[in-house]
Amino acid sequence: MHKRLFIPGPVDVSEDVLQKLATPQIGHRTKDASELQRRITEKMRKVMYTENAILLSTSSGSGLMEGAVRSCTRKRAAVFSVGAFGDRWYKMATSNGVPADKFSSELGQPTTPQMVEEALATGKYDLITITHNETSTGIMNPVEEIAEVIRKYPDVIFCLDTVSSLGGTKIEVDKLGVDICITSTQKCLGLPPGMAICSFSPKAIAAAKQVENRGLYFDLLDLYNYIEKKDHQYPSTPSLPHMFALDYQLDKILAEGLDNRFARHLEMAKYVRAWAKDKFEMLAEDQYASNTLTTVKNTRNISVSDLNKELGKRGYMISNGYGDLKDVTFRIAHMAETTLEDIKTLLSIIEEILGL
Ligand SMILES: Cc1ncc(COP(=O)(O)O)c(C=O)c1O
Repeated sequence: MHKRLFIPGPVDVSEDVLQKLATPQIGHRTKDASELQRRITEKMRKVMYTENAILLSTSSGSGLMEGAVRSCTRKRAAVFSVGAFGDRWYKMATSNGVPADKFSSELGQPTTPQMVEEALATGKYDLITITHNETSTGIMNPVEEIAEVIRKYPDVIFCLDTVSSLGGTKIEVDKLGVDICITSTQKCLGLPPGMAICSFSPKAIAAAKQVENRGLYFDLLDLYNYIEKKDHQYPSTPSLPHMFALDYQLDKILAEGLDNRFARHLEMAKYVRAWAKDKFEMLAEDQYASNTLTTVKNTRNISVSDLNKELGKRGYMISNGYGDLKDVTFRIAHMAETTLEDIKTLLSIIEEILGL
């Protein structure tokens, strides 16, 4: 039996979108492939609110995160971490030989504009990475305030991890001054895992040109050059099935209306937060709570794995905590095509199982 997924990715994919993965293949060096990638670019620009170049990567989001820090750090990277995914970005930098420092917040706390100001004021850094939505803690960072600080340092390349938020909440890339905004297909965009997407600003392009060793597969400048020189093509063979499905799903997202889509995510988030506060506790403070997933403190000390077993028998699945929060929290995602009705059903089943 298929379990309805309320885990923070991969998410359930609509049947019609799944069908698009089975589109007959085309040559990846054809006009049709260029047109497909161009259509995706135009639609992604709308979802990201940007005029910047759009790069696709046949990898999950981690590939572009690694590529961003390696391709565009000339001097030193300031990596801000609010949990597991910020920590991983720091490891990506150091394991590629990119000089970097990590600035961590306590688990459950955000990156603050003050922290960013202090780091950038040293003049040591020319690239900064921020996690927009930390999927382990369910924190959404105050990105507008952070962006205001970064704007004062025009030499700094601003990389934003929106893997678990883009498509579920408004992220205005150009207004925020984000140079590289990275996301994956398997979360709020509502597609299967296997492709990643980022925006790439003229400033990031200029920075990459000054970096000698950018690697190869995740060289963001190489990805960009193929768009420019080969009319929207990809340097190696891309996942064409994902591209067919993405092209189609982006039409659906735009037809729903971005504001409607974001409002639906927020409505679900508010419902889950109220439930979490009533029955357990929230890990995040209200002002930093994520709109796309909720991390619930396991104050009743329930066995999440037993709960998931029972949910599984009924055709549902939630997520345990991540990393250091594995046993002390559990997570309920409200992403992609999930509806408030789905959430209400899930929570009432959880109540029934736990006798709440
Ligand atoms: C916030 C965040 N960043 C990065 C990643 C890594 O993305 P991917 O699994 O697509 O490589 C994840 C995955 O869950 C994530 O939630």
